Amino acid sequence: MPWPPVFGKVFMLPLEDGFSRRFYYLRLSVTDVCNFRCTYCLPDGYRPSDGRKSFLSLDEIRRIVSGFAAMGTRKVRLTGGEPSLRRDFTRIIETVANTPGIDKVAMTTNGYRLKERAGEWRAAGLTALNVSVDSLDPRQFHQITGENKLEEVMAGIEAALEAGFPSVKVNAVLLRGLNDHQLDAFLAWIRDKPIDLRFIELMQTGEMDSLFRDRHVSGEQIKARLLAQGWLTQLRGVDDGPAQVFQHPASRGRIGLIMPYSKDFCAGCNRLRVSSVGKLHLCLFGEQGVALRDLLAGDEQQDALIERIRTALLGKAATHHLHEGNAGMTPHLASIGG
Ligand code: 5AD
Ligand code: SF4
Repeated sequence: MPWPPVFGKVFMLPLEDGFSRRFYYLRLSVTDVCNFRCTYCLPDGYRPSDGRKSFLSLDEIRRIVSGFAAMGTRKVRLTGGEPSLRRDFTRIIETVANTPGIDKVAMTTNGYRLKERAGEWRAAGLTALNVSVDSLDPRQFHQITGENKLEEVMAGIEAALEAGFPSVKVNAVLLRGLNDHQLDAFLAWIRDKPIDLRFIELMQTGEMDSLFRDRHVSGEQIKARLLAQGWLTQLRGVDDGPAQVFQHPASRGRIGLIMPYSKDFCAGCNRLRVSSVGKLHLCLFGEQGVALRDLLAGDEQQDALIERIRTALLGKAATHHLHEGNAGMTPHLASIGG
């Protein structure tokens, strides 16, 4: 596809904000329901906040993704909650993968259906997977996620590699006094596997205060340990987003650090988010979101949809305000997909 993309006779400009950042990556949440109870996200489990919500339908998903693709979006990540809890999840993958212009379809999952579904999702067009594994110790995994499922999730990762995913990304949220002591175990695990392990600094959200005070730890200490052990910083690839990536000559797996509190974290922002009820979020820690759903009922509203997204983007701020303890309106990351 040429760049910028040409549709019919219409010459589409890529999506760009007021700081010349370009957005070719959409994170689309398809449900906010989750079956895990991660201490930093949904410690009491999923509670429907306003009755039964209706999540985006397949047709609405198709229209959103086509609209973004027309403005240059190339990659869509399906998130939740836990996206695989949607019964039509495989069809969602197909719908997104079949949208002209989209060449990467990724998902973020807690891994609980991965073992059974990896092959089916791959065949439907999924090209990449992120699986959350906060600890390699089964008891600690249980303690952090509320589910005693480490073994199944690990089997799911193996199944994904067997199903032909060239690599699997694994997310671990860094928690002081818990998994921050597990670096060596994680490094040993990825030594012979094509796994990109991402350590994510705990981010403060609206519903979580004391946990943040007790458990937040900077990724800098992991970085120092990696550098001391001969790991080398890798130049940033277009797809790495905000992660700092490290590799080691003796390790097949790589490590990424996501440090939202570090300087310039937002400068490389390349993503936009749409929630499972069709609101556009310009930042993970942004405001209420811009409703898109009234423009998703029919294909004839595509132009108006595109116009609304472009206009909204002009209001995207340069950076989040986490440093000032302001986590915006986001109660927890299950609400807009992390
Ligand atoms: N801070 C950092 N990471 C979080 N995640 C969920 N909540 C938080 C938080 N408060 C992670 C999940 C998942 C990814 C989408 O975001 O563990 O790996
Ligand atoms: Fe569920 Fe992911 Fe939140 Fe854990 S972090 S409760 S797996 S949405």
